[in-house]
Amino acid sequence: MVEPGELTEWSGRFLGRRPPWPDLHVLVTAGPTREPLDGVRYVGNRSSGRMGFALAREAWLRGSRVTLVTGPSALPDPVGVEVHRVETAVEMRDRVLALAPTATLSVFAAAVADFRPEDPSQEKRKRSETGPHWELRLVENPDVARESRAVRPAGSVAVGFALETGDLESRARAKLEAKGFDLIVANDAGEEGAGFDVPTNRVTLLDRRGGVEALPLLPKEEVARAILDRVEPLLPGEGPGEEDGE
Ligand code: CTP
Repeated sequence: MVEPGELTEWSGRFLGRRPPWPDLHVLVTAGPTREPLDGVRYVGNRSSGRMGFALAREAWLRGSRVTLVTGPSALPDPVGVEVHRVETAVEMRDRVLALAPTATLSVFAAAVADFRPEDPSQEKRKRSETGPHWELRLVENPDVARESRAVRPAGSVAVGFALETGDLESRARAKLEAKGFDLIVANDAGEEGAGFDVPTNRVTLLDRRGGVEALPLLPKEEVARAILDRVEPLLPGEGPGEEDGE
């Protein structure tokens, strides 16, 4: 039986469908990653996955086929979205590289751990083995967004996030360039009500043409709508096209 909540989502999609979204495959990454330390412990972060899940849902409501690759999150699968649950950055990278070649829009909202313990043990590490100090050596994880550049189709659109603790605009713009994003959503990690594990976010959107737009503090669902509204004219077949000059 279809749940009432599910029915509301499907009617939202019926009413919300609009070009060019129904022709698109949208890929979204979300959540944290968990990097094992031993058989029971991990290195992770406080990302809830809310921002990425909200983006996946919003793209689906507009009519797209949506795949969501998420690290561990307590959130339920968004209705209609194909959800791939992974644990580590390496698993996320592998899944994204398999899915990105057909994605017209890729959105990288995951808070991927940049490092992982070099030599995790399968067993739970005993206190008797570590002594009073446990020295960890971390190795760099793959950059999912950057590696996906090689397989994203020509003409597709990529959106990234930048979590910063200062110098927001210039650092976000550097990431936009380095990772081949068309739009970057920057947020200040130090700000109240923004960033990880809260239902709201205050973001600044920066695009390739030098455009900067600061949004007010909003629920993440509304931030997702605002982001996809800005992405819409960049999608193939939409907007003024590539040769309209600056
Ligand atoms: N990202 C990714 N894979 C990583 C790290 C980041 O795909 N290993 C993506 C994030 O999903 C986000 C963007 O890259 O869209 C920027 O992430 P952020 O954590 O702000 O930046 P980092 O590249 O990790 O740089 P730093 O931590 O040094 O600020």
